[in-house]
Amino acid sequence: MQLRWRPGYQRRGFVTFKADGRFTWDSLEVGLACARRLCLSLGKSSSREEALRRLGDVAVIHEAKFHDRKMQGIAARHAKPEIGQSIGTIVELGPEEFWAGLHRHAPFLSPDPAGDGGIVMPERSPSRAWLKLEEAARFFDLNFTPRDIIVELGCAPGGVALALLDRGVPVIGVDPAMMAAVVMESSIAARDVVPGGKAWFYHCRKPAALVSKRDLGQGVTWFMSDMNQSPEVVLKECARFCRMAPSIRGVLITLKLTDPMQVAAKAEWFSALTKAGFKTFRLQQLAVHHREFALLGMR
Ligand SMILES: C[S@@+](CC[C@H](N)C(=O)[O-])C[C@H]1O[C@@H](n2cnc3c(N)ncnc32)[C@H](O)[C@@H]1O
Repeated sequence: MQLRWRPGYQRRGFVTFKADGRFTWDSLEVGLACARRLCLSLGKSSSREEALRRLGDVAVIHEAKFHDRKMQGIAARHAKPEIGQSIGTIVELGPEEFWAGLHRHAPFLSPDPAGDGGIVMPERSPSRAWLKLEEAARFFDLNFTPRDIIVELGCAPGGVALALLDRGVPVIGVDPAMMAAVVMESSIAARDVVPGGKAWFYHCRKPAALVSKRDLGQGVTWFMSDMNQSPEVVLKECARFCRMAPSIRGVLITLKLTDPMQVAAKAEWFSALTKAGFKTFRLQQLAVHHREFALLGMR
């Protein structure tokens, strides 16, 4: 509404808008939460070849198709685009319905067709949360290194922790529930006794509200949460953890919504992150999410 865009042609997984004036590249910079890809539309064609012709000489072409109840990217992984690079997208909605659109790659935008990383979870992962971490890292281009220490609230059974440990990143996991054996293989008994040269997992087996500064120790760089709690509870804990560990430079939170309309509270969530000292925010529903959204904050 605030954008003064009027809904145009719509299909499940694909929405177009019209505006009174002309759309420009700047129109693509609006922060949408539910859409994974926003393009300037070049219109509808009856064949893929015609849609390709509409895109002209754009070097990178992404293709997507509505399949299995969601918009999915087609084809193998592309090389990561450069910031500012123009990308054409062809969306196949039916045997004779192909839409062409253009966007430019920008920070915190998925590099993949239809914003779908096509990531496949390994069998050894104890939960689907592994996909959420991997998809968010790819979508937002997050680089976690062995020099990071990540605290994750709601870490059991350990899909996210496993994805981080496999990247060589140490994890402090907070959850009263049990962790999977595959994660506990890396566990340490006390926060102040950490092995050198190898990623470790410290299970802080209690509810988030009971975690103290001592449990966190020094050097925590990221706050993550996958707790099944309301956004208000999670953001309150996020602020408390950021006060206990001022070295936190980024937060990645999975917000679980009981009603998708709760997304309207986005400005309040951003404001809570601003108060906690963060400057750049994104709210994004990822391809692997259902009623969930990734909330990213960077210092
Ligand atoms: C969706 S599961 C998390 C999955 C996990 N991130 C993984 O990678 O496998 C949600 C978890 O939140 C935990 N949880 C809920 N409330 C919590 C609280 N107040 N403090 C800590 N953990 C909590 C639950 O025990 C549950 O294990």
